[in-house]
Amino acid sequence: MKLDVLLGLQWGDEGKGKIVDFLTPKYDIVARFQGGPNAGHTIEFDHNKFILHTIPSGIFDPAKENIIGNGVIIDPYIINKEIQTLKEKGIDAGKNLRISKRAHLILPSHRLLDATYENAKGKLKIGSTLKGIGPTYSDKTARDGLRIGDLFAEDFNEKYSKLKDKHLQIVKFYNFDFSGYEIDGLLFEDYERAWMDAIESLKKIKLSDTEYFINEALDEEKPVLAEGAQGTMLDIDFGSYPFVTSSNTITSGVCSGLGVAPKRVGKVIGIFKAYCTRVGSGPFPTELENEDGQQLRDGGKEYGSTTGRPRRCGWLDLPALKYAIMINGVDELIMMKADVLSTFKSLKVATHYLVEGKQTEKVPMYARENCTPVYKSMKGWNSPLDGISDFERLPSALKQYMRFIESEVGVPIKIVSTGPDRTQTIIR
Ligand code: GDP
Ligand code: IMO
Ligand code: MG
Repeated sequence: MKLDVLLGLQWGDEGKGKIVDFLTPKYDIVARFQGGPNAGHTIEFDHNKFILHTIPSGIFDPAKENIIGNGVIIDPYIINKEIQTLKEKGIDAGKNLRISKRAHLILPSHRLLDATYENAKGKLKIGSTLKGIGPTYSDKTARDGLRIGDLFAEDFNEKYSKLKDKHLQIVKFYNFDFSGYEIDGLLFEDYERAWMDAIESLKKIKLSDTEYFINEALDEEKPVLAEGAQGTMLDIDFGSYPFVTSSNTITSGVCSGLGVAPKRVGKVIGIFKAYCTRVGSGPFPTELENEDGQQLRDGGKEYGSTTGRPRRCGWLDLPALKYAIMINGVDELIMMKADVLSTFKSLKVATHYLVEGKQTEKVPMYARENCTPVYKSMKGWNSPLDGISDFERLPSALKQYMRFIESEVGVPIKIVSTGPDRTQTIIR
């Protein structure tokens, strides 16, 4: 059996959580392969709303296994809070959750470092979620990191202190005064205490060699879905570096983040919004800093699931979408938030860029002010999509919008989403 992948083709927040939850009935296992609590995956059903940060979005079906792979980085305090929040709503995540022993730990001092670096960057800051992502992945590649499996080592405290000391030296070097700095509402020492307490809860979760678990499941013909976090344009290699996250958010990240061979990767499902959003700094060629942008933000409730920050909004960017489809080898598309465009009489889609006066369909290494989108105007459908569950009953201008995208990118759109609820999902 081959493993399927679902990942974001834009700058994150495409609606991965909603769709992974929707697709979970088709799979036995759902697995996160990269990222950490910088992710915020929203799932809505039966008048309940959940935002998951580290836990895979298949957790609501107790019959399905959910895996946090080795490529994910984990903050014990945050995951513990997630588990508690789920428990309060009657979901026992501990039962069907498994964490890789090889996954790296986000230390409280990684979060201090994240703030230190952002502070030092001043105007050029990344707009990080301040969850310690960059520093934790840096320690991983520097071979200084601590892993979940190390929690049981006799010398864990020693290793912890050594790494924390290194971090505090760097903080000192940058003159970052953290005496009043709060991490999730707590001063550093209090956060550290709460983090240490959370470790004890984390130790009670099934911690295993998830690479064996997944490969054995595939050998037994069990269907597995890999759930991406962030999006292709935030990928450490192919995103708008340095305004990116610190992991490979793309299909290749599945292999290193779960321990599956490339030949075991099957269908790649790419998810995109019918327009674009981005949270944090960095280039965004189709950004609308005008009323249209505000209309998208209001209509789409475009405020970060993790940080609450307003998301930057803009028209659909086909060069970026084609690039993401190429990098990931996307077989099928899912288009989200079609309902948000329902209030527009006319729409625009970027088909090309003008880079230094030359028209191109390719994403340049720097897509900054030198990169101007060339738009095609299209008729809006300008009518609500409420209550429509049959693809054929969608307004013809919406179907035309989708057909145009498909003809440009050469990949079919198999699902269209018309609202945040699980039921507002139309299979074509
Ligand atoms: P993720 O990070 O990719 O899982 O996406 P987020 O959860 O961060 O952001 C997507 C937001 O859009 C969430 O608030 C969802 O509830 C919401 N959403 C998902 N699909 C739709 C849709 O089709 N229409 C509308 N209006 N909202 C949607
Ligand atoms: P989901 O999985 C949107 C952005 C941050 C920042 C940059 C680097 O919900 O789609 P980091 O904290 O990773 O060092 O921040 O990446 N970012 C996201 N934007 N959705 C996400 O995740 C994101 N995770 C990180 O805003 O610009
Ligand atoms: Mg999100």
